[in-house]
Formats: sequence, structure tokens, C-alpha cells
Amino acid sequence: MNADQLAKARVLVVGDVMLDRYWFSAVERISPEAPVPVALVQREEDRMGGAANVALNAATLGAQTTLLSVVGSDDAGRRLAHLVADSPIRSAMRQVVGLRTTMKLRVVSRQQQLIRMDFESKPDHEVLLDLMDRYEQELDLHDVVLLSDYGKGGLTHVERMLAMARLRSKPVLVDPKGRDYSRYKGATLITPNRAEFALATGDWQGEDELQQQADRLRAALGLQAVLVTRAEDGMSLFTDTGRLHVQAAAKEVFDVSGAGDTVIATLAVMLGAGSSLEEAVRTANRAAGIVVGKLGTASVTPAELWPLP
Ligand SMILES: Nc1ncnc2c1ncn2[C@@H]1O[C@H](COP(=O)(O)OP(=O)(O)OP(=O)(O)O)[C@@H](O)[C@H]1O
Ligand SMILES: [Mg+2]
Repeated sequence: MNADQLAKARVLVVGDVMLDRYWFSAVERISPEAPVPVALVQREEDRMGGAANVALNAATLGAQTTLLSVVGSDDAGRRLAHLVADSPIRSAMRQVVGLRTTMKLRVVSRQQQLIRMDFESKPDHEVLLDLMDRYEQELDLHDVVLLSDYGKGGLTHVERMLAMARLRSKPVLVDPKGRDYSRYKGATLITPNRAEFALATGDWQGEDELQQQADRLRAALGLQAVLVTRAEDGMSLFTDTGRLHVQAAAKEVFDVSGAGDTVIATLAVMLGAGSSLEEAVRTANRAAGIVVGKLGTASVTPAELWPLP
């Protein structure tokens, strides 16, 4: 695989977008009003989060990437729309009046988070139904569908999305959320992390039990593959042909947040470019190993994956 081949992949990302906002501040005193620090905000930084970060990862790998989602017509929604417009992502985002854009605001002082404040509201049923027409049009223009579920309601109609993709034989990769995965029935592959997989299928003791749980889930949902991402323990792929375990590839670990986004985005781009599932998994694991070694940026370029000799 190489950069030219990745550039042919067309990836449709659908799901919950969010804005990651950082307020870098100085703390020099305790408030006279309550026993809390006073943070003097010196710099604000906004980053794409959730499904938008997934799309950014796919686009940074060079894939033709479309992002279909809803945001509010508020400050955070406008910021997010600008960030996407300034990126290589093709935007199919809709701004919705009355919806509050999901935002995670962190107040940081000396590399330390003081507090995180979350803002969100559930998008309207009707608004999401409206989005289905656009989804149907976009399906025909893409090779792979990536559903990034952060449990914020953007994937309320996931069952219908899966059915429409299946009709057109488009592979669908899902980053799941919650206890009940039955709504992901008929997906091609799902990528829970350890905690997510345990929440959906129960705790396991040892590798055999993990494999049994993955195989049971595959059978119940008609999935081609389950990929359990296991942080410092790498990742395990379960398919009809058994288990493939890949050891974590990181040399140094600075920032593990967003590694899961990098994994599923790399898988989608690789599969869209025509790679085998095994090669896609090995490449996704390398991409995750690179991204956890970075501070700030949470995406990987083809040149980092295949450096020139
Ligand atoms: N501490 C770590 N050391 C080495 N590799 C790591 C580490 N954490 C994550 N990785 C790499 O990133 C992949 C995905 O990480 P993880 O299983 O934590 O996903 P995740 O919980 O969905 O991540 P997030 O939700 O923060 O994006 C792992 O399979 C591994 O390749
Ligand atoms: Mg994750």
C-alpha cells in the first residue's frame, strides 16, 4: 500500500461530532468566593473531536473523506464548521437551530486539567430523519461507511443506515457505544475497546473466553469481524478464520486520547483502498502507535506510515 492508493479511497464518516476546547490558564490564587483556584485564561485552542476527529484522521491519510453530521447553530457549531471547512474533509454537516453542539471544555493549567465541562443536547428525531436522504445520496459516492458512535444521538437511525449500506454492498465499520450492540446488526466490523467490549458482553478470563465472547457476538449480529482494541496490549481481530493478535507498536506514549479514532479511520481508508483486513489491522495498529507518541495532533500521514528509506 502507498499514498497514491490511499488517495483513491472514498470514506463516508457519519456520527457524533464534537468540539474539543482547551482553555490554557495560569493559576496563582485561590478564589475569595469559594475554596477553588482562580484560572486566568491565556489561550484558547479548539480541535475537532468525536466523528470529526475520525474524519480528520481519514483525510490526513489522504482519503477522500466526507463528514455527515449535525451541529447546533451556536458558537461551538460555527467553530466546528470552520475547522472542518479549513481541513481536507468534505463537509456534509448541517447546522440546526436549537441544537446545542457537543463540546468538551477543559480548563488546563501547567499540563494539568483542572476541570472538564461538557455541553450537549440530543438532536431532534425529525432533523436526523432529514439527514437520511443525504446519507442515501452519499452512499453511492463512497467505498466504505464509518459510523462513529459517541452516544450523543447522531446515530439514532443506525439500523436504517446499515440496511441501506447493505443493499449497496458497502462495508460498514462501527465504533460502538453502550451495552446493547443489537442495533449494529449487519455491520461488517466493530471496534470496541476493552471496557466497551466488557460492557456489551461481560468480563472475560483469559484469551479463550475473550474469543468465545467475540465469536458469539459475531454470530448474533452477523458481523464479519470484531476488533477489540486493548490499549498497551495492542489489538485482537476475531473473524471466521480465528484470532489475529497484534502487539502494540508504540515506542513512546505521550497522549493516548484519540487512538481509537485513528484505528477505525485507518481501517476504513485501508479497506477503501483495497487492502486485506489483516493488512488493514496491522497498519491501523502502527498508526495508533504513532499517534499515541504525539502531543496535540491526533492524526497520521502516509509518510509517517511508510517513511522513505
Ligand atoms: N498505552 C498505550 N501503549 C501503546 N499503544 C497504545 C496505548 N494506548 C493505545 N495504544 C494503541 O492504540 C490502540 C487503540 O487504543 P485503545 O484500545 O485505548 O482505544 P480507545 O480506548 O478507543 O481510545 P480512545 O477512545 O482514547 O480514542 C491500541 O490498540 C494500541 O495500538
Ligand atoms: Mg474509542
